[in-house]
Amino acid sequence: MKPSETSIVIVGGSSGIGFACARRLAQMGYRVVITARTQARVDETLAKLAHDIAGQPLDYADRPGIAAAFARIGAFDHLVLAGAGPATWGAFESLDRDAVQAAFASKFWGYFDTLQAALPQLAKQGSITLVSGAAARVALPGTVGLAAVNGAIERMGVTLAKELAPRRVNVVSPGLVDTPAYDWMAPEARQAMLDGAAAKLRVQRYGTPDDIAQAVAFLMTNPYVTGSILDVDGGVRLG
Ligand SMILES: NC(=O)c1ccc[n+]([C@@H]2O[C@H](COP(=O)([O-])OP(=O)(O)OC[C@H]3O[C@@H](n4cnc5c(N)ncnc54)[C@H](OP(=O)(O)O)[C@@H]3O)[C@@H](O)[C@H]2O)c1
Repeated sequence: MKPSETSIVIVGGSSGIGFACARRLAQMGYRVVITARTQARVDETLAKLAHDIAGQPLDYADRPGIAAAFARIGAFDHLVLAGAGPATWGAFESLDRDAVQAAFASKFWGYFDTLQAALPQLAKQGSITLVSGAAARVALPGTVGLAAVNGAIERMGVTLAKELAPRRVNVVSPGLVDTPAYDWMAPEARQAMLDGAAAKLRVQRYGTPDDIAQAVAFLMTNPYVTGSILDVDGGVRLG
């Protein structure tokens, strides 16, 4: 099928990794629909993109709203789940249980509910790409909360690759990527955090949102890949 006849829904397409996916896939000629939590964020995003992209509000916190969004979107070919939940950093001993539960409620259950709502509209020959996080793939002290949420998403994705076949299901596992998720940090502290992490990696750089978008485009377009977890993490697993 030609890209111009192929439609992709990118949940969390208003920022960071999801936004880079929307831009890259639209440049490749695909028909892209992005979601953000509010109509205002959708409108803001569409105004930033030169391409003819559509948008729908979708908030993980609103389960009936998720179903309504997919009913409005109608039939489509590929789903990319790139929405974020609250990040839960911290040593396990003092890790706030409520914060981890909130992270599950948002990202894990958000992905779960979105997948269930999207399935009736998703083409049998289509694909699903889930964005997890490197904390689930490498034992980094202080990231138990992130590891648990993203690990659950990865295992769900691999099992769904069998259950939902012939649809393909893959996961991309990003390492540290400079996105608006870190806008809460003071600029100097943010740069120091990114540079410090980059210095420890074999590749001596941190990730860009388009590094991840490139991997998402590969997983989405390669008809021989399913049940894979693709690490796009600068080699953080190598230590
Ligand atoms: N950046 C990293 O270093 C990194 C590393 C590993 C994994 N990841 C994962 O990559 C994914 C994207 O992260 P990012 O850094 O690109 O984040 P980001 O720039 O903050 O973008 C987050 C996106 O998720 C949407 N979103 C947030 N809460 C939502 C909710 N309750 N319901 C639906 N959508 C929601 C946001 O929509 P609004 O515009 O409405 O807020 C936005 O489109 C996340 O799952 C994150 O865990 C990121």
